[in-house]
Amino acid sequence: GFPEYVKIVEVGPRDGLQNEKVIVPTDIKIEFINQLSQTGLSVIEVTSFVSSRWVPQMADHTEVMKGIHQYPGVRYPVLTPNLQGFHRAVAAGATEISVFGAASESFSKKNINCSIEESMEKFEEVVKSARHMNIPARGYVSCALGCPYEGNITPQKVTEVSKRLYGMGCYEISLGDTIGVGTPGSMKRMLESVMKEIPPTALAVHCHDTYGQALANILTALQMGINVVDSAVSGLGGCPYAKGASGNVATEDLIYMLNGLGLNTGVNLYKVMEAGDFICKAVNKTTNSKVAQASFNA
Ligand code: HMG
Ligand code: MG
Repeated sequence: GFPEYVKIVEVGPRDGLQNEKVIVPTDIKIEFINQLSQTGLSVIEVTSFVSSRWVPQMADHTEVMKGIHQYPGVRYPVLTPNLQGFHRAVAAGATEISVFGAASESFSKKNINCSIEESMEKFEEVVKSARHMNIPARGYVSCALGCPYEGNITPQKVTEVSKRLYGMGCYEISLGDTIGVGTPGSMKRMLESVMKEIPPTALAVHCHDTYGQALANILTALQMGINVVDSAVSGLGGCPYAKGASGNVATEDLIYMLNGLGLNTGVNLYKVMEAGDFICKAVNKTTNSKVAQASFNA
């Protein structure tokens, strides 16, 4: 059956913007995050403490982290691939972090310049340091339903990497369909395997919508007892190291579906649409959210 409450992890300011070619001014990012903070969202991923040579759009991570107003009841995680990023994140005021691995060797190399094994060793250091500081750590597994370089990825490999991250102390594992190729069939097979090792209460799904399957895949995960879903306002997003991948599932569309199912999110759809309108105008894009399109045309 469905969970009663679904936690939405808003990744718009990070995943949503990291692939934008034109650098979004820092004050726009800060205003965007402040608006999102007033929608009822309880988790907003703010930025990445990665190399500015690799992801120029996230170069202002410290300024963004320091510039936002941290609202009570809202958590503001940031991505940290290694100890250097972790220490910078903490110095900037981060109180929650995410490490990000992959179930594909080739993607790991392209995205973070090391093998899966090497990445796990770095993440162990980060998660250990985080634990000493009482900083919760989340773990991502990219390419959970397919890889841009290797194609098919086995549920066994996803399970193995997820188990490793969970074992080192990540409180939640976010399973990423990085390139949006999954279907309810592959989502179900992957989750059946991962759920043999990790309880569904410690899992999240992170769906990109390249093939238009994201909501169906999320519904499948909900039916299997998962109640944490990543999404990005306006369906922004994409990974610079996953060419051709389109945006994340739109937060507006996700909330509309959850509202229709009678599942509580605590998030105000209208206010999220306003924040989406703000960021789309700022980056000169039209929204990818079907719900926002329909509502603004009504
Ligand atoms: P590297 O070049 O292997 O790092 O990069 P290194 O340790 O060899 O150091 C080389 C240089 O990078 C040094 O500088 C370091 O100081 C610097 P130099 O001495 O040459 O001037 N450096 C750093 N600078 C800033 N922050 C750091 C850092 N670490 C080293 N943390 C690194 C390794 C991971 C840094 C690099 O590959 C990188 O930044 N990659 C970007 C990864 C990324 O942000 N990808 C997008 C996010 S993942 C995603 O979108 C998927 C997800 O959404 C889920 C899904 O959809 O599946 C999460
Ligand atoms: Mg992503």
